[in-house]
Amino acid sequence: MRKSGVLFDRPRKRNIPINPMSSDSAPVEIRPFSAEDMDAVLKVQSGCKGIAAWRTRDYEQLSRDPRGMFLVAVRQGRISMEIVGFSVCYRIETEAELWNIGVKPAHRRRGVARALLSEACRRLSEAGVRRLFLEVRESNLPAAELYRSFGFEPLARRKDYYQNPREDALLLVLKLPDPGT
Ligand SMILES: CC(C)(COP(=O)(O)OP(=O)(O)OC[C@H]1O[C@@H](n2cnc3c(N)ncnc32)[C@H](O)[C@@H]1OP(=O)(O)O)[C@@H](O)C(=O)NCCC(=O)NCCS
Repeated sequence: MRKSGVLFDRPRKRNIPINPMSSDSAPVEIRPFSAEDMDAVLKVQSGCKGIAAWRTRDYEQLSRDPRGMFLVAVRQGRISMEIVGFSVCYRIETEAELWNIGVKPAHRRRGVARALLSEACRRLSEAGVRRLFLEVRESNLPAAELYRSFGFEPLARRKDYYQNPREDALLLVLKLPDPGT
Protein backbone atom coordinates (compact mmCIF):
# COMPACT_ATOMS: atom_id res chain seq x y z
CA MET A 1 0.00 0.00 0.00
CA ARG A 2 1.27 3.45 -0.82
CA LYS A 3 1.96 5.66 2.13
CA SER A 4 -0.04 8.85 2.03
CA GLY A 5 1.62 12.25 2.07
CA VAL A 6 3.51 14.42 -0.32
CA LEU A 7 6.82 12.61 0.14
CA PHE A 8 5.74 9.89 -2.24
CA ASP A 9 4.01 12.07 -4.81
CA ARG A 10 5.68 13.36 -7.93
CA PRO A 11 6.54 17.02 -7.47
CA ARG A 12 3.67 19.15 -8.78
CA LYS A 13 4.47 21.32 -11.74
CA ARG A 14 3.44 24.95 -11.89
CA ASN A 15 0.48 25.66 -14.12
CA ILE A 16 2.34 28.07 -16.37
CA PRO A 17 6.07 27.46 -16.30
CA ILE A 18 7.98 30.54 -17.27
CA ASN A 19 11.46 29.23 -17.89
CA PRO A 20 11.84 28.34 -21.58
CA MET A 21 15.30 26.82 -21.09
CA SER A 22 15.38 23.20 -22.01
CA SER A 23 17.21 20.50 -20.13
CA ASP A 24 19.52 20.63 -23.14
CA SER A 25 22.19 23.33 -23.03
CA ALA A 26 20.77 25.39 -25.93
CA PRO A 27 17.93 27.68 -24.89
CA VAL A 28 14.69 27.72 -26.80
CA GLU A 29 13.48 31.01 -28.21
CA ILE A 30 9.76 31.40 -28.80
CA ARG A 31 8.73 34.03 -31.33
CA PRO A 32 5.84 34.76 -33.70
CA PHE A 33 5.79 32.96 -37.05
CA SER A 34 6.98 34.89 -40.09
CA ALA A 35 6.50 34.02 -43.76
CA GLU A 36 10.02 32.65 -44.22
CA ASP A 37 9.35 30.03 -41.50
CA MET A 38 6.75 28.23 -43.62
CA ASP A 39 8.91 25.42 -45.02
CA ALA A 40 10.42 24.70 -41.62
CA VAL A 41 6.97 24.56 -39.99
CA LEU A 42 5.70 22.16 -42.68
CA LYS A 43 8.77 20.02 -42.00
CA VAL A 44 8.01 19.92 -38.28
CA GLN A 45 4.40 19.05 -39.09
CA SER A 46 5.40 16.20 -41.40
CA GLY A 47 7.47 14.68 -38.59
CA CYS A 48 4.53 14.70 -36.18
CA LYS A 49 2.42 11.57 -36.42
CA GLY A 50 -1.26 12.16 -35.81
CA ILE A 51 -1.09 15.94 -35.87
CA ALA A 52 -3.74 17.92 -37.80
CA ALA A 53 -2.22 18.16 -41.30
CA TRP A 54 -2.57 21.76 -42.38
CA ARG A 55 -1.68 23.12 -45.79
CA THR A 56 0.44 26.16 -46.57
CA ARG A 57 -2.61 28.34 -47.15
CA ASP A 58 -4.14 27.35 -43.78
CA TYR A 59 -1.01 28.60 -42.02
CA GLU A 60 -0.87 31.71 -44.19
CA GLN A 61 -4.49 32.54 -43.40
CA LEU A 62 -3.95 32.05 -39.70
CA SER A 63 -0.82 34.17 -39.62
CA ARG A 64 -2.79 37.06 -41.19
CA ASP A 65 -5.79 36.70 -38.87
CA PRO A 66 -5.60 39.07 -35.87
CA ARG A 67 -7.34 36.40 -33.77
CA GLY A 68 -4.73 33.78 -34.64
CA MET A 69 -1.58 33.23 -32.60
CA PHE A 70 1.11 31.34 -34.45
CA LEU A 71 4.37 30.80 -32.56
CA VAL A 72 7.55 28.99 -33.49
CA ALA A 73 10.25 27.52 -31.25
CA VAL A 74 13.78 28.19 -32.42
CA ARG A 75 17.00 26.66 -31.18
CA GLN A 76 20.61 27.11 -32.20
CA GLY A 77 21.62 24.15 -34.36
CA ARG A 78 25.13 23.10 -35.34
CA ILE A 79 25.27 25.66 -38.12
CA SER A 80 22.28 27.96 -37.85
CA MET A 81 19.08 28.59 -35.94
CA GLU A 82 16.58 25.79 -36.44
CA ILE A 83 12.80 25.77 -36.06
CA VAL A 84 12.10 22.79 -33.82
CA GLY A 85 8.42 23.29 -33.00
CA PHE A 86 5.35 25.43 -33.43
CA SER A 87 1.94 26.09 -31.92
CA VAL A 88 -1.24 27.59 -33.23
CA CYS A 89 -4.03 29.13 -31.15
CA TYR A 90 -7.18 30.96 -32.11
CA ARG A 91 -8.83 33.56 -29.88
CA ILE A 92 -12.40 34.73 -29.64
CA GLU A 93 -12.82 37.41 -27.00
CA THR A 94 -12.03 35.85 -23.60
CA GLU A 95 -11.65 32.29 -24.86
CA ALA A 96 -9.09 30.63 -27.08
CA GLU A 97 -8.40 27.22 -28.52
CA LEU A 98 -5.10 25.46 -29.10
CA TRP A 99 -5.45 24.17 -32.65
CA ASN A 100 -2.08 22.58 -33.24
CA ILE A 101 1.25 21.98 -31.55
CA GLY A 102 4.19 19.90 -32.69
CA VAL A 103 7.87 19.38 -31.93
CA LYS A 104 10.49 17.66 -34.09
CA PRO A 105 11.09 14.12 -32.81
CA ALA A 106 14.81 14.76 -32.20
CA HIS A 107 13.98 17.72 -29.93
CA ARG A 108 11.27 16.15 -27.78
CA ARG A 109 11.36 15.88 -23.99
CA ARG A 110 13.50 19.01 -23.75
CA GLY A 111 10.79 21.44 -22.75
CA VAL A 112 10.03 22.84 -26.21
CA ALA A 113 6.25 22.24 -26.11
CA ARG A 114 6.09 23.55 -22.57
CA ALA A 115 7.93 26.71 -23.63
CA LEU A 116 5.51 27.18 -26.56
CA LEU A 117 2.51 26.75 -24.25
CA SER A 118 3.98 29.12 -21.66
CA GLU A 119 4.52 31.87 -24.20
CA ALA A 120 1.11 31.32 -25.83
CA CYS A 121 -0.56 31.54 -22.42
CA ARG A 122 1.36 34.67 -21.49
CA ARG A 123 0.34 36.40 -24.71
CA LEU A 124 -3.26 35.19 -24.56
CA SER A 125 -3.57 36.24 -20.96
CA GLU A 126 -2.30 39.73 -21.79
CA ALA A 127 -4.84 39.90 -24.62
CA GLY A 128 -7.65 39.25 -22.13
CA VAL A 129 -8.17 35.52 -22.67
CA ARG A 130 -9.30 33.70 -19.54
CA ARG A 131 -9.80 30.13 -20.73
CA LEU A 132 -7.79 28.04 -23.19
CA PHE A 133 -9.43 24.91 -24.62
CA LEU A 134 -8.07 22.02 -26.63
CA GLU A 135 -9.03 18.59 -27.89
CA VAL A 136 -6.68 15.64 -27.77
CA ARG A 137 -6.96 12.03 -28.89
CA GLU A 138 -7.45 9.84 -25.89
CA SER A 139 -4.56 7.59 -26.98
CA ASN A 140 -2.07 10.45 -27.45
CA LEU A 141 -0.31 9.88 -24.16
CA PRO A 142 2.65 12.28 -24.64
CA ALA A 143 0.26 15.14 -25.45
CA ALA A 144 -2.20 14.22 -22.71
CA GLU A 145 0.62 14.10 -20.17
CA LEU A 146 2.02 17.42 -21.43
CA TYR A 147 -1.37 19.10 -20.94
CA ARG A 148 -2.00 17.46 -17.57
CA SER A 149 1.40 18.51 -16.26
CA PHE A 150 0.77 22.02 -17.54
CA GLY A 151 -2.44 22.36 -15.55
CA PHE A 152 -5.17 21.60 -18.12
CA GLU A 153 -8.23 19.95 -16.64
CA PRO A 154 -10.70 17.56 -18.28
CA LEU A 155 -14.00 19.14 -19.26
CA ALA A 156 -15.80 16.67 -21.54
CA ARG A 157 -15.42 13.72 -23.89
CA ARG A 158 -16.37 14.06 -27.56
CA LYS A 159 -17.51 10.68 -28.79
CA ASP A 160 -15.93 9.52 -32.10
CA TYR A 161 -14.59 12.99 -32.71
CA TYR A 162 -11.59 11.74 -34.69
CA GLN A 163 -11.53 9.50 -37.77
CA ASN A 164 -8.79 7.18 -39.13
CA PRO A 165 -8.72 5.70 -36.60
CA ARG A 166 -12.04 6.60 -35.03
CA GLU A 167 -11.51 7.74 -31.47
CA ASP A 168 -12.97 9.93 -28.76
CA ALA A 169 -11.50 13.36 -28.08
CA LEU A 170 -10.90 14.64 -24.59
CA LEU A 171 -11.82 18.30 -24.24
CA LEU A 172 -9.48 20.03 -21.78
CA VAL A 173 -9.44 23.54 -20.37
CA LEU A 174 -6.83 25.74 -18.70
CA LYS A 175 -7.82 28.81 -16.71
CA LEU A 176 -5.48 31.70 -17.43
CA PRO A 177 -4.59 34.28 -14.81
CA ASP A 178 -5.71 37.89 -15.16
CA PRO A 179 -2.38 39.77 -15.48
CA GLY A 180 -3.99 42.80 -13.86
CA THR A 181 -4.61 41.05 -10.54
C1 LIG B 1 3.20 16.20 -27.52
C2 LIG B 1 4.47 16.95 -27.93
C3 LIG B 1 4.06 18.28 -28.56
C4 LIG B 1 5.33 17.20 -26.67
O1 LIG B 1 6.45 17.98 -27.04
P1 LIG B 1 7.78 18.02 -26.17
O2 LIG B 1 8.57 19.20 -26.59
O3 LIG B 1 8.46 16.71 -26.26
O4 LIG B 1 7.22 18.22 -24.70
P2 LIG B 1 8.06 18.78 -23.44
O5 LIG B 1 9.47 18.35 -23.54
O6 LIG B 1 7.78 20.24 -23.30
O7 LIG B 1 7.37 17.96 -22.26
C5 LIG B 1 6.68 18.59 -21.20
C6 LIG B 1 6.03 17.49 -20.36
O8 LIG B 1 5.06 16.78 -21.14
C7 LIG B 1 5.05 15.40 -20.75
N1 LIG B 1 5.51 14.56 -21.87
C8 LIG B 1 5.97 14.99 -23.06
N2 LIG B 1 6.26 13.91 -23.85
C9 LIG B 1 5.97 12.82 -23.12
C10 LIG B 1 6.07 11.42 -23.38
N3 LIG B 1 6.52 10.93 -24.56
N4 LIG B 1 5.68 10.56 -22.42
C11 LIG B 1 5.20 11.02 -21.22
N5 LIG B 1 5.12 12.34 -20.90
C12 LIG B 1 5.48 13.23 -21.85
C13 LIG B 1 6.02 15.30 -19.58
O9 LIG B 1 5.28 15.61 -18.39
C14 LIG B 1 6.99 16.43 -19.89
O10 LIG B 1 7.69 16.88 -18.77
P3 LIG B 1 9.07 16.13 -18.34
O11 LIG B 1 9.88 15.93 -19.59
O12 LIG B 1 9.69 17.10 -17.38
O13 LIG B 1 8.64 14.83 -17.73
C15 LIG B 1 5.34 16.12 -28.93
O14 LIG B 1 5.47 14.80 -28.43
C16 LIG B 1 4.77 16.06 -30.34
O15 LIG B 1 5.08 16.92 -31.16
N6 LIG B 1 3.95 15.03 -30.62
C17 LIG B 1 3.35 14.87 -31.96
C18 LIG B 1 2.33 15.94 -32.24
C19 LIG B 1 1.17 15.90 -31.26
O16 LIG B 1 0.71 14.85 -30.83
N7 LIG B 1 0.67 17.11 -30.91
C20 LIG B 1 -0.43 17.26 -29.96
C21 LIG B 1 -1.73 17.22 -30.68
S1 LIG B 1 -3.09 17.40 -29.52
